[in-house]
Amino acid sequence: MAKHHRALGVAHTLRPVQPVTLVRPHAAARAARFFVEKFPGRTLYAVKANPSPDLLQILWDNGVTHYDVASIGEVRLVARTLPESTLCFMHPVKAEEAIAEAYFTHGVRTFSLDTIEELEKIVRATKGADDLTLCVRIRVSSELSKLSLASKFGAGPGETKALLFAARQAADTLGICFHVGSQAMSPDAYAQAMERVRMAIVEAAVTVDVIDVGGGFPSAYPGMEPPPLERYFETIHRAFESLPISYSAELWAEPGRALCAEYSSLIVRVEKRRGDELYINDGAYGALFDAAHVAWRFPVTLLRAEESRAKDVAFSFYGPTCDDLDHMAGPFDLPADVDTGDYIEVGMLGAYGSAMRTAFNGFGTDETIEVSDEPMATLYAGLEDDADSGNVVRLGARRG
Ligand SMILES: Cc1ncc(COP(=O)(O)O)c(C=O)c1O
Repeated sequence: MAKHHRALGVAHTLRPVQPVTLVRPHAAARAARFFVEKFPGRTLYAVKANPSPDLLQILWDNGVTHYDVASIGEVRLVARTLPESTLCFMHPVKAEEAIAEAYFTHGVRTFSLDTIEELEKIVRATKGADDLTLCVRIRVSSELSKLSLASKFGAGPGETKALLFAARQAADTLGICFHVGSQAMSPDAYAQAMERVRMAIVEAAVTVDVIDVGGGFPSAYPGMEPPPLERYFETIHRAFESLPISYSAELWAEPGRALCAEYSSLIVRVEKRRGDELYINDGAYGALFDAAHVAWRFPVTLLRAEESRAKDVAFSFYGPTCDDLDHMAGPFDLPADVDTGDYIEVGMLGAYGSAMRTAFNGFGTDETIEVSDEPMATLYAGLEDDADSGNVVRLGARRG
């Protein structure tokens, strides 16, 4: 992979015609070390957030040994890339063939479920195995998070008792898992969910061996600057310690976004300006899916050798395809004189960015360049002696 020091250098020396993904291995390594050292339990990386094999290797090299996989494709990918890793199949609705392949071919022993039907599938597909870790997913509120995960999965209050009881009979190790929604803006999200866990355990009166608090750990974006991650960890630890579970019970988390958001960004080129609308060469069908579909505001920086003196104004973006849907409302704050031919870096795209990319309409490329400058925002700066972390600045403050 080609290497450059800074995003600005990539734009100016290469003048790329196609969008270029920039990756920052040091940022992903720092996030992994942070979770491994400070989360008061085990960290499973949620592979769906960014399945790049390079990223998987970086996380592994920095101490992440367990991986939350949600499809047989992810099971195969991680088994191939990191053969020594432990895989946990945490999608509550799986094909029976996928469960069987995961168990018999790839050694997967941990599965999640939220219905009796899924439990029966797991038992059938594994031929009644007696070495299963079964995690019952319970439904919790997403109200303190930016992206809801409260509707699709999770056993409701009237269902958990029978399910926990049945899963206890089939499991060697029984867990309870949940997801508070992605980009949880307050640690209280986890405190409230842990209360639901307490109620479920008391009601079912079963021994629970694993509490898995799922993902939802935030990253920093414009208008979404969360409290420090340590506050989340403290809240979770306190709630875990007060649950009616055995002394040897384990605490797990499945961060996706928080481990990889800072890992990559994207350099795009402005192909046309129409008033305060910029037509850029990546969009809704590329790495900017969330910017278009859930109006996510990613940080942006104009990459000009000589800094613009114009004041920032709010722009919206159009992506390159012929679709009206290929529109990103932003607002994206950029100097008022930005124009055709300018390069823009769109930051914090490591999570749910390149993972969503398609080649629709013939657009999109895989060009990736490694850089060693800092991401546009970080939750991990100054937390360790990192050679390059001295120049981390607040969100939006970096220029070029
Ligand atoms: C089961 C499960 N675990 C973990 C994650 C990762 O969530 P996040 O990226 O918000 O940390 C997801 C995301 O959808 C999920 O469905």
